[in-house]
Amino acid sequence: MAKNILCLSGPNLNLLGSREPDKYGTATLGAIEQKLGVQAAMAGSKLTCFQSNSESQLVDRIQQAAQQSVDFILINPAAYTHTSVAIRDALAAVAIPFVEIHLTHIRAREPFRHRSYFSDLAVGVVSGLGPQSYELALSYALDHAGKD
Ligand code: DQA
Repeated sequence: MAKNILCLSGPNLNLLGSREPDKYGTATLGAIEQKLGVQAAMAGSKLTCFQSNSESQLVDRIQQAAQQSVDFILINPAAYTHTSVAIRDALAAVAIPFVEIHLTHIRAREPFRHRSYFSDLAVGVVSGLGPQSYELALSYALDHAGKD
């Protein structure tokens, strides 16, 4: 059965490509999402991508996912990883399985990035592999979405 996967990206990820390229690389979010779209289409699944700098918009999008029969969420909460009880609670409320994604290896960065409000609820975390963090998370979702 076709899987319905939602990929969420948080604040400042719209600047990928030009944002601190030494840390985040030179691929734009558009390029990363386009590649994910091809990967999902080849597996016969539907992928919807959404980026926002706003915590409330991310919470709203997660709440909508429950009504839209989303099977699996991929989320890079960006800076909200380390601060957002609201996004964590939204994910817990909809109870849709999700993978937490980071381009950088957050545990190897500043101490304030070591805490995540998401990891203990996530099916898994892919961190530090650049754009491949997204691709590997999608690959997992394509294999496992819809199965319990
Ligand atoms: C990030 C890591 C976060 O600490 C940071 O605030 C980001 C991006 C990553 O993908 O490596 O904006 O989530």
